[in-house]
Amino acid sequence: MSSSPDASSKIYVSHQSAKHFTVSLLTAHGVSPAHAQTIAHALVAADLRGIDTHGLNRLPSYINRIRSGVLDPLASPELNQITPVVSHIDGHNAFGFVSAHLGMESCIAMAKEYGIGMCAVKHSNHFGMAAWIVQQAVDADMMSLVFTNSSPALPVWGGREKLMGVSPLACGAPGGEGREPFVLDMAPSVAARGKVYKALRRGEKIPLGWALDEEGNETEDPAEALKGVMLPMGGPKGSALAVMMDVFSGVLSGSAFAGGVTNPYDASKAADVGHFLVAIKPDLFMDLETFRERMGVLYEKVVGSKRMKGVERIWFPGEIEQVTRREREKNGIPYVKAEIDALNREAERVGCGKIVIMGSVPRAKL
Ligand SMILES: NC(=O)c1ccc[n+]([C@@H]2O[C@H](COP(=O)([O-])OP(=O)(O)OC[C@H]3O[C@@H](n4cnc5c(N)ncnc54)[C@H](O)[C@@H]3O)[C@@H](O)[C@H]2O)c1
Repeated sequence: MSSSPDASSKIYVSHQSAKHFTVSLLTAHGVSPAHAQTIAHALVAADLRGIDTHGLNRLPSYINRIRSGVLDPLASPELNQITPVVSHIDGHNAFGFVSAHLGMESCIAMAKEYGIGMCAVKHSNHFGMAAWIVQQAVDADMMSLVFTNSSPALPVWGGREKLMGVSPLACGAPGGEGREPFVLDMAPSVAARGKVYKALRRGEKIPLGWALDEEGNETEDPAEALKGVMLPMGGPKGSALAVMMDVFSGVLSGSAFAGGVTNPYDASKAADVGHFLVAIKPDLFMDLETFRERMGVLYEKVVGSKRMKGVERIWFPGEIEQVTRREREKNGIPYVKAEIDALNREAERVGCGKIVIMGSVPRAKL
């Protein structure tokens, strides 16, 4: 099929091609095949779940960090067992995906034996969409908490300078039999800053209420918003959640905190991101089957709740993204031309193959 899409029309890529492309590009930059698989899995998971802000489009910024020598593609995180239920990882400036994956693996192993496992990670990097780590725990039948800190983007309540990160907090639990898991993954801002970067890439406006420009005025212009601040959700409560992410991920872990984390798009110095991860065995107080039955009841009560006028359907947290994942696994992941071009430019620079596209029509419509 030929495709000559305009700037906003979508180009579809299968998740297998997206993963293959990502692994090739990363290994061409010296990342080990095992680490490249972990990173590709997380980035493609974001694109599949509709979190396009944290998928393959982040590759050029990560590669720019490698090229500038502020992210070490060869590094391997080092795990120290502190107590039987607590581990500590020094990421040694490896990809955040690799350190977080190892951290959750360690939490799961501890929780399988002792019911709970907790890991603090220091000297790490951006780990993208937090939900892929929650899913790692769900796949092992575990509940989880996933926190990270991030670069300054948000003022504290009453302040007007960027100080806290728009740092996501995520948590999850296995779902009822045949039901989706519970997956909450949210930034403490009205919108994740990645959505502003995405609007900038795509030449789109952002809604009023997401951000203020440098002068403190509301703005629809993503470039002005990036110079200014993101607005916390729920006023002081969103700002306090951002502080909470810094307490657990930065102060506790030994990583940067209080505005010290470097922006993933600033390739002048190491990011020094911290993470905080917990896995909990759901069958501590009852058997897993009973837990799942109870989750099933909760799901039915939530989605079956009386709807407000104009609401067609009530969703369980994470369910919209699961539906998107199933649809994109079947029909492909939509990108725009500028995004595909940026990825192919990276591929050209290291002589690896272009991303294989399905065309400008989703697979279902071919
Ligand atoms: N690594 C980082 O530094 C970083 C920083 C910021 C954001 N992020 C990522 O950005 C992503 C987007 O964050 P966000 O805050 O914009 O997410 P969002 O507002 O799109 O969703 C937040 C949560 O609300 C749920 N939800 C959304 N609409 C719903 C509905 N109609 N009914 C029921 N539940 C609903 C979602 O399932 C999700 O769990 C996240 O994956 C986050 O991890 C990462």
